[in-house]
Amino acid sequence: MILAPSILACDLGHLADQIAAVERGGAGLVHVDVMDGRFVPNISLGPVVVEACRRATRLPIDVHLMIESAERYLDAFADAGASSISVHVEALPHLQRAIDHLHKRGLKAGVALNPSTPLGTLEEILPEADFVLVMSVNPGFAGQKLLPSSLDKIRRLREAIRARGLSARIQVDGGVHGGNIRSVVDAGAEIVVAGAAAFAGGDPEAAARALFEAARLAP
Ligand code: DX5
Ligand code: ZN
Repeated sequence: MILAPSILACDLGHLADQIAAVERGGAGLVHVDVMDGRFVPNISLGPVVVEACRRATRLPIDVHLMIESAERYLDAFADAGASSISVHVEALPHLQRAIDHLHKRGLKAGVALNPSTPLGTLEEILPEADFVLVMSVNPGFAGQKLLPSSLDKIRRLREAIRARGLSARIQVDGGVHGGNIRSVVDAGAEIVVAGAAAFAGGDPEAAARALFEAARLAP
């Protein structure tokens, strides 16, 4: 399991310290949630924050674009230091072109699905995606409750990837905490995003360790 703390939920006034703390706790990625107030009903972080993360850590920076016209901003986030970028199938008509562009820039490319978006929308693109981000809440805010139907969606996706002999990894994002992390990992998620569960308690290092313990995995 790769733990990917979402800095949307951290104390942004102490960004570098908060990232260092989750890194000590075993985090493998830093997840940055980018929202435009159009695709989702919130506005959050942009390329300057990705640059600040890049300076703060050697961990890969994973950018989750919850924005319209995402293709216009891929280079800005790549230039800012992103290692991987996920784009939503609901927001991008030319998904293949975006993934191809990210690969040409040397980044890993993820395809993100909202809870109500069927797995069938991945049919053509799955062989080209490095990972699939399964949203387990409706995107927009940290601290929401995981939708239980996400577990079956992750299981079905894992089976589809296996049956086709593909290598895409599954990322789960939204409402993961110590009480359900084991079930999302068992369902097939390999990259686990955690916002509130990593940062809301005030001790991100201990919180990250506790998530590995709850998943019964070593960092
Ligand atoms: C939701 C974001 C998530 C969120 C996760 O719109 O994409 O990454 O910050 O936060 P928690 O883990 O608190 O749901
Ligand atoms: Zn996210």
